[in-house]
Amino acid sequence: MKAGAVTPGKTDSARVVEMPIPVPEPGEALIRLLEVGIDGTDLEISLGRYGDPPPGQDFLVLGHEAIGLVENSGSTDLVKGDLVVPLVRRPDSCINCRTGQYDMCIEGNYRECGIRGAHGFLREYLAEAPDFLLKVPQDLRQLAVLAEPMSIVSKGVEQAMEFHRRSANPIQAALVLGAGPLGLLAAAFLRVQGYNTYALDILPKSSLKGRLMEAIGATYIDGSDCRIDELPRKLGNLDLIMEATGNSTVAFQAMSALGINGVLCLMGVSTGEKRLEICADCIDMQIVLGNKVVFGTVSSNRGHFERAIQHLGEIEQEWPGWLTRLITQRLPLGDFKDALHPAPDSIKTVIEMPQNMV
Ligand code: BGC
Ligand code: ZN
Repeated sequence: MKAGAVTPGKTDSARVVEMPIPVPEPGEALIRLLEVGIDGTDLEISLGRYGDPPPGQDFLVLGHEAIGLVENSGSTDLVKGDLVVPLVRRPDSCINCRTGQYDMCIEGNYRECGIRGAHGFLREYLAEAPDFLLKVPQDLRQLAVLAEPMSIVSKGVEQAMEFHRRSANPIQAALVLGAGPLGLLAAAFLRVQGYNTYALDILPKSSLKGRLMEAIGATYIDGSDCRIDELPRKLGNLDLIMEATGNSTVAFQAMSALGINGVLCLMGVSTGEKRLEICADCIDMQIVLGNKVVFGTVSSNRGHFERAIQHLGEIEQEWPGWLTRLITQRLPLGDFKDALHPAPDSIKTVIEMPQNMV
């Protein structure tokens, strides 16, 4: 079978490789992959800045956002033809991993398919245990490739809401920084729940990202002519900020913009070594005197994936067709390298696997 792979640590090494079709272990299902989404982490890996191959191998199959069809079930939980989303993390033996909270792994020996220590889903077939496959309703066939990024957002927003519940004042203004897939999904999640939501990116309001934000009733702000630390003066107390640019400078600016009793959720992974001069005293004092919470979130577990599917359904019902507009490019597997050099206004590229095209 064919797979899209890279050599971790090496820039621009993306290539199509030939691999044997995996043979399922007892209890495992054989999955025929249909679509695989490409995200910022894949770009970081292809730049050689992130990612590890499986032990003893020198290449890594990319892809951690996928949907597939069950070809051979191998268990009673699934039947041939079921639509499934494979989960990303594989637990180690720490207390959190053992209780299904592998997104909160404390020992760090987890693996992540397509990212760290395990091959990903950008290949024709996958053999996997049912614990790491989520069955998805067939009517979400067109949207389910967004389940993985939605699961990241679900976890982040859920935890932010939990922190926010400490104080009685309601969320009057939420701000999403970045209008890539995570930012758009976060804004849609907040809007579907009726929150007054602002979204900022460094593109004009007339760009696709700006229009998509406005289409769900978020107020879009072009960040190229507005400073983040000036936003509170214009928008009032920012109770919740979801940082989805993955830019560490923006993350620190967001700390200064965060309102009293506010919660700032950082979702982006910065892989560089950028240095900043900041007023550490000012930020520290504002966080303490304002009861503010700044927290990071990574990955997701089965529960987040389950709720992600539910949230995708709700968003689709509220704004039919909006989610599919996030998929701005579809490429065959043979051209997956092109997905690793996206245009500025591209949002989500989906690789169509050979089996989806017959
Ligand atoms: C994935 C997460 C993963 C993170 C860090 C993200 O792109 O969605 O599942 O934990 O990268 O490796
Ligand atoms: Zn663990």
